[in-house]
Amino acid sequence: MEDKIKRNEFLKSLGFKGASLLAVYCGVSSLSSCKNEDVTPASSIDFTLDLTNAVYSKLNTAGNYVISNGIVIARVSSTSFAAVTQVCSHENKANVIYNGTEFYCTQHGATFSTSGVGTNANGSRGIKAYQTTLSGTNLRVFS
Ligand code: FES
Repeated sequence: MEDKIKRNEFLKSLGFKGASLLAVYCGVSSLSSCKNEDVTPASSIDFTLDLTNAVYSKLNTAGNYVISNGIVIARVSSTSFAAVTQVCSHENKANVIYNGTEFYCTQHGATFSTSGVGTNANGSRGIKAYQTTLSGTNLRVFS
């Protein structure tokens, strides 16, 4: 147990948090609880994406999205962004994407508005949404 706590602190010191921290644990131990079905949305997140970085520059164009730290971040319009967990509320599959209009789960087709409200039967439970603010070319994603 103590080892796990130390490793947790070590990974946090490297900047791993929430879903990415879980991914690290899944990578180093073959726990059955690390299957895709068992991931849970991060309750507390706070990270910033540099939109001049090639990895995130897709977010400079409306309709695009990236996935970072288990969060799907979409450029909704020239002035707005939206962010939700990658984990679908239907059967907890981490398969949510942005289809250019709304958030969409590729597993069974659940759809969610940009604020996380379910818009069809499979999406009826909604999805955890996060806040975003753009400052210059830095996009902060936080809960
Ligand atoms: S798990 Fe997303 S629609 Fe079923």
